[in-house]
Amino acid sequence: MSSATFRVWRGDGGEGALVDYEVEVNEGEVVLDVLHRLQATQAPDLAVRWNCKAGKCGSCSMEINGRPRLSCMTRMSVFAPGEVVTVTPMRTFPVLRDLVCDVSRNYAKAREIPSFTPDPALGPGEMRMRQEDVARPQEFRKCIECFLCNNVCHVTRDHEENKEHFSGPRYLMRVAELETHPADTADRRMIAQDEFGLGYCNITKCCTEVCPENIRITDNALIPLKERVADRRYDPLVWLGERIGLR
Ligand code: SF4
Ligand code: F3S
Ligand code: FES
Repeated sequence: MSSATFRVWRGDGGEGALVDYEVEVNEGEVVLDVLHRLQATQAPDLAVRWNCKAGKCGSCSMEINGRPRLSCMTRMSVFAPGEVVTVTPMRTFPVLRDLVCDVSRNYAKAREIPSFTPDPALGPGEMRMRQEDVARPQEFRKCIECFLCNNVCHVTRDHEENKEHFSGPRYLMRVAELETHPADTADRRMIAQDEFGLGYCNITKCCTEVCPENIRITDNALIPLKERVADRRYDPLVWLGERIGLR
């Protein structure tokens, strides 16, 4: 048994401060274990969101020593002896209290995406898919909606004015998943560009770096989606059709 200094953001409605606590730490524990001990022994009113403690529910997202992480998957052994562990809420979303943010904007954006639209001519059991078309959405479907990617992306992290125009990598990835589905017939390319802010993404890849599911968001979703949008925008037939009112 040892102890660690936890510097935790306490407050609500934008007002708050970092508060230091000395907390017991045992071998094999993760940051969430120590926050639970803090609640049990010194700060019973500390607000922390969590559910599975297994890296699967996406609830316990926060910033630990400035890096967006899942607190249930961050082992105490990654910190140097004596290192202060600073724990703050995700910076991009409004804080409800202490370490808990309001992430409802993400769910609102999710509801705006046109759903899967299969070809109505296909009867039950007639849809055929190649293995690579199955593997692609399977990678995206590993998403646990922790929103660490949306939190870290610089487009909205330090720019309040962009929040209305940018859905973040999580939902651009969802658009890419549907858009590249071989049996889908809807066209979401202009929605991706105009309503979800694909053009704001300049492929810095920070979203990919923080994803706890190791989804290659930038390479496998955002760049292919950008290529598709460019294909549509610069396709001379589309250009001509738009001008003579056919598309
Ligand atoms: Fe979290 Fe990764 Fe899903 Fe983004 S893509 S919400 S980082 S699991
Ligand atoms: Fe942001 Fe990821 Fe693009 S961090 S800029 S959405 S590659
Ligand atoms: Fe579920 Fe951390 S508590 S991912």
